Amino acid sequence: MRKYLEKIKNKKVILRTDYNVPIKNGKIIDNTRIKASLKTIKLLLKNNNSIIIISHLGRPKNKEKKYSLKPVALELSKLLKKEILFSKNINEKTIKTAQKLEKQILMLENIRYYEEETKNDKEFSKKLAMLGEIYVNDAFSSSHRKHASITGITKYLPSFYGLLFEEELENLKKILKPKKPFTAIIGGAKISTKINLIKKLSKKANKVIVGGAMIFTILKAKNYEVGKSLIEKDKIKVAKQILKYKNIILPKDIIVAKTVSENAKIKNKKIEEMNSEDIGLDIGKETIKEIEKILEKTKTVLWNGPLGLAELEKFSKGTKKVAKKIAEETKKRKITSIIGGGDTINIINKMRINKKNFTYISMSGGAMLEYIEKETLPGIKAIEQSQKKYEKTIKEIIK
Ligand code: 3PG
Repeated sequence: MRKYLEKIKNKKVILRTDYNVPIKNGKIIDNTRIKASLKTIKLLLKNNNSIIIISHLGRPKNKEKKYSLKPVALELSKLLKKEILFSKNINEKTIKTAQKLEKQILMLENIRYYEEETKNDKEFSKKLAMLGEIYVNDAFSSSHRKHASITGITKYLPSFYGLLFEEELENLKKILKPKKPFTAIIGGAKISTKINLIKKLSKKANKVIVGGAMIFTILKAKNYEVGKSLIEKDKIKVAKQILKYKNIILPKDIIVAKTVSENAKIKNKKIEEMNSEDIGLDIGKETIKEIEKILEKTKTVLWNGPLGLAELEKFSKGTKKVAKKIAEETKKRKITSIIGGGDTINIINKMRINKKNFTYISMSGGAMLEYIEKETLPGIKAIEQSQKKYEKTIKEIIK
């Protein structure tokens, strides 16, 4: 696809990026996603294109100011050393401005300020398409959403994948056809958000290691005492469904405390030793050793989600040890390691492990999980359909 993108010259390109970045008091806390979009932007600019950038930020209900993309436009301008025009509205004037762009960049205000976006409104999609001549989706991490700027717009313009989109796709494909033995490590608090992924992976992977607070819902389904640990009461039935998979590995031991704080007194207990006062907050020593042994024999690892309450230092040991081991094995034996999900990436950033020690760190959370589960995404299908519909035009563009 890079070779296709390289052929786009002197055009007005609508670029969908994912600038859903953490912002506090108007300041961007982590600009990774903005930096990751530069490759595509620079390539388009090099070929004398103008770019109309569309992105969302958060899930605004009433155009709340804290969800404005203005700080992102400023950051992008700094990184590119280039002026970024900014449009608060999408109207006739915006369309005229877009048409007059000359190798410039125009960024639209948060697309989710318009309810038509999430409703995938047809007229709204058409209006967006009027802003340019070509559509490029570089927001793999938003492509599990059937929204106007992801799927709707592709019906009205010849559409392409951006470079970051392709990079995500190429790397996540490695999980669909993994070198064996393949180990998946899935953590996180809620079984409800991971159940379909775990089911899918238990058919693909040799071993699926499950950690994080969701194990307590599973253990509860097995009639274990889990004390005051976090559980999803209404998901116990759902949790029972995965007990039939024999390759799912649950922790043998656990770090428990009576309170959730950095000063809490902790104990390493076997699962069957937990009492009604215990709160399970991290995986135990024996479990860490077991995971390390599995990793020493694995050729592909997928890791998503912390294995304990890792935002507190006290309960982050399990997650950190596993992160370190994956990095070591990748470096030493050149295994394929794919990491994803915001919380997981935060841990790696905090630990200052060299990101090059992993095969790939995905920018996506929900989209990554859905892609592995369904092996496609609405945003992928939309581009495929658009490329069929506009086959002739696309041939002209890339000849
Ligand atoms: C993400 O941060 O995972 C994407 O930007 C998608 O955001 P959403 O879950 O609000 O659609």
